[in-house]
Amino acid sequence: MSVINKTKSSDIVNIFNAIQKINKGQSVDNAVQSFEEIKRSFIFLTVQEYYRRHLNTLEIIKKLSHKKSHPDGIMIIQIAMIMIFFSKKPEYAVVHDAVEFSKSFKISGFVNALLRKILSEKDSLLKNIQSTKINNDFKKQLIKIYSSKKIHEYIFRTLNEKPVNYQVSYKNNQNALYDLRVSTLEDFHDLKKNSWVQDIGNYECIRSIREIVKNKKILDCCAAPGGKSFLLSSFGCEVTSLDNNKEQIEKFYENTNRLGLDLDIQEENFLDFQTKEKFEYILLDAPCSSLGTFRRNPDVSFKIKQMALKEKQSLQLEMLNQALSIISNNGVIIYMVCSFHPVETIEVIDKFLKKNTDFNTINLKSDKLLKKNNGYFINPYSFKDFGGSDSFFISALQRNS
Ligand SMILES: C[S@@+](CC[C@H](N)C(=O)[O-])C[C@H]1O[C@@H](n2cnc3c(N)ncnc32)[C@H](O)[C@@H]1O
Repeated sequence: MSVINKTKSSDIVNIFNAIQKINKGQSVDNAVQSFEEIKRSFIFLTVQEYYRRHLNTLEIIKKLSHKKSHPDGIMIIQIAMIMIFFSKKPEYAVVHDAVEFSKSFKISGFVNALLRKILSEKDSLLKNIQSTKINNDFKKQLIKIYSSKKIHEYIFRTLNEKPVNYQVSYKNNQNALYDLRVSTLEDFHDLKKNSWVQDIGNYECIRSIREIVKNKKILDCCAAPGGKSFLLSSFGCEVTSLDNNKEQIEKFYENTNRLGLDLDIQEENFLDFQTKEKFEYILLDAPCSSLGTFRRNPDVSFKIKQMALKEKQSLQLEMLNQALSIISNNGVIIYMVCSFHPVETIEVIDKFLKKNTDFNTINLKSDKLLKKNNGYFINPYSFKDFGGSDSFFISALQRNS
């Protein structure tokens, strides 16, 4: 195996740069896009593991080093540890690249000494690096929403487990598979042509509105890359789908063509959407923090404080107001987010209902949904028999006039 000796393009440098972008707010997906395809998957997985083990590696470094160190040096050592413990890269190559890179920060002595110490204690450190540690701010929010001990303890215990089960749906929803167990999406190869794949919890939310929207005309106003529009279409709905993101819309077209579905897709900012017709049903799968995808995207738990959730709430309320202007009398707005945070979920609905007293929430039917205040939550525990899911919130608001 060749040793990468150009410090500039070593994996450590690439991963370090990606993490800096993610810490400033980018998603992991976006931060790895600029790398060559051949490197992307390795960088993506290492970055995810870096966040999953962030508190563990930090604790080990603090224990082994008595000196106060440069934050960049700590990050380089953390990345190197992830590669040493979780990748097949030769240890000497990892240490070499880490030390070379740290020369630019004038901290190579510290990085070298600490990594050698870590290598000499590798076996005894393995247990420390594998234990599940959770960021306190994140933990507090989870307990606030999932107050049941059995639920939040399950979530804490399995926080580092990547979801292994996906919902596979076919064009004709009668054939939807609910419990397909797969470890990688490659296993779906044969199914790809006429099926689509999504998180089990995500599917459950849409399934819970099936009887309400079946065979109806519906506006899906934040629709790309299309997962929910496809399900609605399989319920016999006539779907109009909007999204303002060009790249996501392209993916949406690709998926729609692959599935052979007939959807009315429009690249449109929902906030500027003009229409003469009133819709009886509107699905608002609103942009949000994605905090509920913490098992898939472990970085979100560290960003909880910098997420500007109140700004997200303002946009979510603005979108609900826009929906209000085009919903018919007795119409239903279905609000959804992949977040469990009160600011983006029950608070949004509270504020909306306070201002719009002609609306009520309506009951949704699913034994997996957990009712709280004016909406329903899906959490990983709901699907513990399937290895857990992401977390979601859904609320259906009906106008009574
Ligand atoms: C949670 S994702 C939607 C996922 C989609 N419903 C699905 O199931 O595949 C939110 C989407 O909102 C879109 N979005 C954000 N602001 C928007 C706006 N002002 N108008 C329309 N779409 C918007 C984003 O581009 C993103 O694709």
